[in-house]
Amino acid sequence: MKDLLTRQKALQKSTVSVIGLGYVGLTTAVVFAKNGIPVVGYEIDPKRAQKIREGAVPFEEPMVKELLKESLKAGTFKVDEKISKLSDIVFLTVGTPSDKRDGGIDLTFVKSVSKMIGEVLRSSDKLVDYPVVVVKSTVVPGTTENTVKPIIEEASGKKVGCDFGLAVNPEFLKEGAAVQDMFEPDRIVIGEFDKRSGDTLERFYQWFYEKKMPPVVRTNLVNAEFIKYASNAFLATKISFINSIANIAQKTPGADVSIIAEGIGLDNRIGRKFLNAGLGYGGSCFPKDVRALIAFSKQARYSPVLLDAVDSINQNQGSVAVKMIDEVFEGNGGSKGKTIAVLGLAFKPNTDDIREAVSIRIIKQLLSSGAKLKVYDPVAMPNVEMEFGNSLTYSKSSLEAIEDSDCAIIVTEWDEFKKLEPKDYFERMKTPIIIDGRRIYDSEKFGKALKFKAIGLGQ
Ligand code: UGA
Repeated sequence: MKDLLTRQKALQKSTVSVIGLGYVGLTTAVVFAKNGIPVVGYEIDPKRAQKIREGAVPFEEPMVKELLKESLKAGTFKVDEKISKLSDIVFLTVGTPSDKRDGGIDLTFVKSVSKMIGEVLRSSDKLVDYPVVVVKSTVVPGTTENTVKPIIEEASGKKVGCDFGLAVNPEFLKEGAAVQDMFEPDRIVIGEFDKRSGDTLERFYQWFYEKKMPPVVRTNLVNAEFIKYASNAFLATKISFINSIANIAQKTPGADVSIIAEGIGLDNRIGRKFLNAGLGYGGSCFPKDVRALIAFSKQARYSPVLLDAVDSINQNQGSVAVKMIDEVFEGNGGSKGKTIAVLGLAFKPNTDDIREAVSIRIIKQLLSSGAKLKVYDPVAMPNVEMEFGNSLTYSKSSLEAIEDSDCAIIVTEWDEFKKLEPKDYFERMKTPIIIDGRRIYDSEKFGKALKFKAIGLGQ
């Protein structure tokens, strides 16, 4: 307690607003609030705001619920539906969904929140000394300068750099590890319109991280916006790269992409991370951000051939697995009428998120070829049921899903699937055929016991 008071005192007047309590906003807010920073979170949806006030977290993310409850109890976190006052630092964390027409980003929420901030800024009695508006939402290069800034200035009648500050501070949180990523980031990127804004933000983080302060990159607004897109695009490129190698290896007897990844990953210049071959990347970030960068690039009249390839390799990776199933049943009527167990539906383990999950594409393709599907995921089943209704059989466990199946495909690498032994499949399946879409099994052990095929495994 004493520690908390000392830290609050050290912060003096630094208060924080977080606008938009989605996954990034709420996680950011409660991590700060838990550490004694007075945070007001703004959530426009009254039902969601009320839920959060009651201590409920509207998404699956380890630790967030505990941190929310503690900070509500300590009184360091409050939730409001209307922005009534600006804090020293105002984080903008609203969503920037994909625009369906061209994959560019939809700035509706960024624009409306910027206007609201401007309106509050207009009444100077509601002002702290020099509020710094910090864009944390992922926005394409130029957005903060050309969209956020003029909207706030017009709505407020005030000038950035004189009456209020402006910065970009991208987040690099991974679903399932967001709180840990907040506490131990690899770097902090601060894009600043003016030095005072950058200083305020850097001091804030210095206070927050103390001795664990990560490296800081201070730059202009546009570079900070670019860094977020380039980071995600690079990681997506690594994944599509290793998946291309996997697809070639699969056609090469004796080759195994897992070993190839190990071998190249030991080169420090390459690194082993994000070289797990499989069924491609999904979720709410990589697919959207790669496409947004493609759209942005085309607008800038540069043809993004590399990014186009990254995206198209990824879109096609689910079909590689479906083709493997078709080949297994070639000459035996194809997959029509066969019962296929789909193990894993979430876009990655430890989340119930199925946005852009490859499972959806695989399920659609298999259903259209007339297969009967038994699906199982430890947490994502309700979300899939909402999408597919009674066209699928929803199993209560992985063992129930494989029971009497003709083939099983691993789509998400949940730990509980890794624990299954060849005999678990052998004893239950009608025909024990496994397609390992995420390379979770020892190919020698499984290959000896049953018909085993895997992404990137040449046979
Ligand atoms: C990603 C980034 O990792 C975060 O740094 C970033 O902040 C976030 O996007 C964002 O922009 O908000 P996330 O989408 O939560 O985070 O998930 P990742 O753990 O990065 O995985 C993304 C996808 O890549 C998953 O579908 C995963 O299965 C796939 N993946 C990952 C592979 O197929 N192979 C790998 O080696 C690694």
